[in-house]
Amino acid sequence: MVADMTEANPRISKAVIPAAGLGTRFLPATKATPKEMLPVVDKPAIQYVVEEAAAAGLDDVLMITGRNKRPLEDHFDRNHELESALERKGDGGKLAKVQESSDLATIHYVRQGDPRGLGHAVLCAAPHVGNEPFAVLLGDDLIDPRDPLLQRMVEVQEQHGGSVIALMEVAPEQIHLYGCAAVESTEAGDVVKVTGMVEKPDPADAPSNYAIIGRYVLAPQIFDVLRKTEPGRGGEIQLTDALQQLAADEKVGGPVHGVVFKGRRYDTGDRGDYLRAIVRLACEREDLGPDFRTWLRSFVAEEM
Ligand code: UTP
Repeated sequence: MVADMTEANPRISKAVIPAAGLGTRFLPATKATPKEMLPVVDKPAIQYVVEEAAAAGLDDVLMITGRNKRPLEDHFDRNHELESALERKGDGGKLAKVQESSDLATIHYVRQGDPRGLGHAVLCAAPHVGNEPFAVLLGDDLIDPRDPLLQRMVEVQEQHGGSVIALMEVAPEQIHLYGCAAVESTEAGDVVKVTGMVEKPDPADAPSNYAIIGRYVLAPQIFDVLRKTEPGRGGEIQLTDALQQLAADEKVGGPVHGVVFKGRRYDTGDRGDYLRAIVRLACEREDLGPDFRTWLRSFVAEEM
């Protein structure tokens, strides 16, 4: 159960979803469409992320959008013309699917004029979030709904205060693709204390195999730190650099903890992972799975 909610640690109700990156790994598909709108089976990737926020009780969602914000806004808005057409046809099933995305949460939008990095995108949320802890869900990071992570992170934040990041163990040769955390164990098997962080380290310099993945519960003090954070790796304002400052000095915004995630996660901004996500989720679908698995088996047999 939730610990007592003092004014110093109010209940978390807001989720921020940065979706303003350029998505260069997916060009040309992302030339005019945000990568978060690419379909994973039959839903855009970002709908899974909004569903995850809503499932964790965060129904105030702020999306940080960029130059292609129109498809995102349209997807989470009502489409009366389409709804009337489906009603006239008596197609209740499809009508429900169309309405689902607009009923998930209250969604607000703010535009990040220039994609100056994830840290800068999060800073754009400051006026909306105010002085309370909040969650950040990366719009291209898909966590399987059967392996809930965000609820656990909210619980850990409510217990310890401060900020909570999500960690996943990766092979040492993969760590240069992620932010990496130095950690100490705690009494809870799935929770570690984060003592330091470094963005995309060379394997030789990595303090651990714990990769930072795209879910955060952040103390509002992160905004002040981000305002002072200089561009780092890639010339971008890095969220990891600001978090490192929180971890280095607990007096700033409380401790930083990590929840170690062992479930299924897909980086839908990466082409290989995107394809794996579609195949896996399609195989598991009741409506599509049986036929798709049969086809996949014979396809693999032919290819081997
Ligand atoms: P990525 O590191 O995946 O960058 O961003 P990207 O630009 O979107 O994609 P590539 O590497 O060019 O293919 C991680 C998350 O942070 C958001 C992205 O939308 C994504 O959800 N982001 C990144 C912003 O919102 N603004 C930025 O300036 C940078």
